[in-house]
Amino acid sequence: MKIGFCGKGGTGKTTTTTLLATYLAKNGNVLAIDSDTNENLAYALGFDKSEIESMERIRKFNDEIFAYTKTQVDWKTRQVAPVSDANYYEFIDGEMDEFLKSVSISKDNISVAHLGNVEKDNKGITGMCSAYTLMRIFLNHLKVGTYNDYLLVDLLAGDEPLARSMIINLDEMLLVVEPTEKNLSVAKDIIQSLNKLEFENFHILINKSFKIEDKEYVSEYLGIDISRIFRVEFSTEVLQLDNNCELTFDKLPKSIKVEIEELFKSIKENSNHSEELFIKRAKKIDERLYPDSNSKQTEKHHI
Ligand SMILES: Nc1ncnc2c1ncn2[C@@H]1O[C@H](COP(=O)(O)OP(=O)(O)O)[C@@H](O)[C@H]1O
Ligand SMILES: [Mg+2]
Repeated sequence: MKIGFCGKGGTGKTTTTTLLATYLAKNGNVLAIDSDTNENLAYALGFDKSEIESMERIRKFNDEIFAYTKTQVDWKTRQVAPVSDANYYEFIDGEMDEFLKSVSISKDNISVAHLGNVEKDNKGITGMCSAYTLMRIFLNHLKVGTYNDYLLVDLLAGDEPLARSMIINLDEMLLVVEPTEKNLSVAKDIIQSLNKLEFENFHILINKSFKIEDKEYVSEYLGIDISRIFRVEFSTEVLQLDNNCELTFDKLPKSIKVEIEELFKSIKENSNHSEELFIKRAKKIDERLYPDSNSKQTEKHHI
């Protein structure tokens, strides 16, 4: 199962990814991918600083990614095209597992890998477009591999990952929100983008909540059925554990544990994975972006 975590910056995407990763790791192998510009998932998961710093960023391996995914990019037009006439939507095979293993660090059934964004040397003087293009290609070719049962993707803040079609290959999206007007207006935009992509499998997690009524408020504000909305209270324990990079599911207060369990149960019941679904979403994007192209041409543009 492939789950993405999205929402406004600071809402709790990385915290929630960590909680779900440590929960799922009790019964299987988890690969968590940090695709946020502010990479900090590995820290949240409690890996050692030296280990994290020595880790290779996936972005460094552009050529390998293009080879695995059978794509090439015209960087001028940023058009993505298949290298050969092979089925453009073909998913990468087992080779990718080995690659992911080589760029990730692991402990206790959890591996983490960083997509990597701007190289440190170029910070402040370069754009993000090439990083986003690579991210899109990479994420849209990922599948649950032979050594991980769950794939969790900590996404960029806001609706950037949706606008850039980075999420269409995921089975489920968890939209993390705070129960404030400012935060929910971003969530509303994200839901609109999900609807446009015909991405129906998403849940809402209200994080840092102070009152039970937040569920009704969020449900009404976003127009989402309350059965898909879960709620984690503001907790100084969570904050402290996270600050110390010691956050795991097992250390959570009981009430939060129960909510995370319920949330995952619902995700599991509703999750819908098929390559056909991915292709349907991809074609939908093509139709919107290139309404006048014939199908052969349109297949060249996205992913
Ligand atoms: N339920 C919670 N209660 C208290 N603090 C929280 C909770 N969830 C997250 N936080 C804190 O909020 C801050 C932002 O969380 P983070 O997961 O880094 O957000 P994001 O990844 O969305 O930018 C962190 O300091 C984290 O410890
Ligand atoms: Mg984060």
